[in-house]
Amino acid sequence: MSQDNKYQDLETIFLDRIDSATNLSDLERIRVAAMGKKGQVSLLMQELKNLLPEHRKIYGQSLNAVKSKINASIKIRREELEKLQLESRLLREVTDVTLPIRPDSLAMGRVHPISQVLEEIVEIFSDLGFSVADGPDIDNEDNCFTKLNIPSHHPARQDMDTFFLKARSGCSRKVLRPHTSSVQIRTMMTQAPPIKIIAPGRVYRCDNDKTHTPMFHQVEGLLIDRGIHLGHLKWCLQEFCKAFFEVDKVKMRFRASHFPFTEPSIEVDIDADTIGKPGEWLEVLGSGMVHPKVIRNCGLDPECHQGFAFGMGLDRIAMLKYGISDLRDMFSGDLRWMRHYGFMPLDVPTLIGGLSS
Ligand code: DAH
Repeated sequence: MSQDNKYQDLETIFLDRIDSATNLSDLERIRVAAMGKKGQVSLLMQELKNLLPEHRKIYGQSLNAVKSKINASIKIRREELEKLQLESRLLREVTDVTLPIRPDSLAMGRVHPISQVLEEIVEIFSDLGFSVADGPDIDNEDNCFTKLNIPSHHPARQDMDTFFLKARSGCSRKVLRPHTSSVQIRTMMTQAPPIKIIAPGRVYRCDNDKTHTPMFHQVEGLLIDRGIHLGHLKWCLQEFCKAFFEVDKVKMRFRASHFPFTEPSIEVDIDADTIGKPGEWLEVLGSGMVHPKVIRNCGLDPECHQGFAFGMGLDRIAMLKYGISDLRDMFSGDLRWMRHYGFMPLDVPTLIGGLSS
C-alpha cells in the first residue's frame, strides 16, 4: 500500500471513530490513539525521517493535512459533546424554587448577628429615604484619607493602623480601607446632591483583642443637601436609635469630639438603660457636619451644599443589642455559637413586623 493510501485509511478510520465518540473521555482516548506520543499519526510522523528527502516532503505534507483534519474534527466533536453534557446536566440539576423549604434546613440554618443587624439598619434607613451605596475594600489613599481632610503627615493616618498594600510600579499605593468613610468620597464624586446614603461594609485595621479584630464592619451614613444643620443630624440619629433598640424613648448624649472630616464633630452615647444595663453611657457612633474642605475636595461648593455624616461599628452595635461579649467569637465559625446567637432565616426584620422578633 502506498503511503498516501495508508494516510487516507488512517484518516477515514479516525474521523469515523471521532464521529461516533459518545462522551468526552471516549474522545480523549481516540485523540491519544492518534496524536499521543505513541499515537498512530505521531508514529507515522517519526517514520518520515526514514524516507528519501524528495518523498519526505510530499508525504510530510499529506500527513500534516491528515493531522489537521483529525485535529479539527476532534475540536468540533469536543464542542458538540461539551454542549450535550451541559444540556443533560442542566436537565438533571433542576431546582424547583417553588417547592416549600425543607424543615431540616430551616431547623439548622441561622442568620449571623452581623447580617441580621445589617438588615435591621438597612430597613430603618430605607424608611428614612436613604439608599445603600457600596465601595471596594481595597481603595486608594486619596479616598481613604486625603480627600477626607487627613493629609499624609496627619497622625490619624497612623492612629488607624492601616494595612498598606505594596505599590505596583507606576501606580499609587493602595490600602485595605480602614473605614467606610471612603464611600462618602466616592459618592460625592459621582452623584449630584441631594445625596442620602448609607454604606455598610468590611473595614480593616491592624489590631486584635477582645474588642478588636483585623477585619470588622462599619456603616457610614451621608446626607448632603441645601440648608442642612445639626438639628437634622440629631433628629436622624434619635430616630435611628429608637428604631434600632426597639424602644419608644432613648436617652442620648451628644459629646463634642474631633474627626478631621467633620466640623463640628460629635460622638453619640446612649443610656445603657436602653439595653437593660443601668448607670452607664455606651458609645454608639461618631458623627458630625461634613467639613467644608471635604465638600470642596469632592467638587461641590460648601456655600451651597452642607451635610452630615456618621459612622458606626456594625459589630459593636450588634454586640450591644444582642449581649455578645467577645468580638472574636463573631468570626470563629463556631456552630454552637451560631445556634445560640443566630437568627431564624425566615424572620426577616421589618419595621412593621418587628426588627428582631
Ligand atoms: N470614620 C470614622 C472611624 O472609622 C467613623 C466616623 C466618624 C465616620 C464620624 C463619620 C463621621 O462619617 O462623621 O472611626
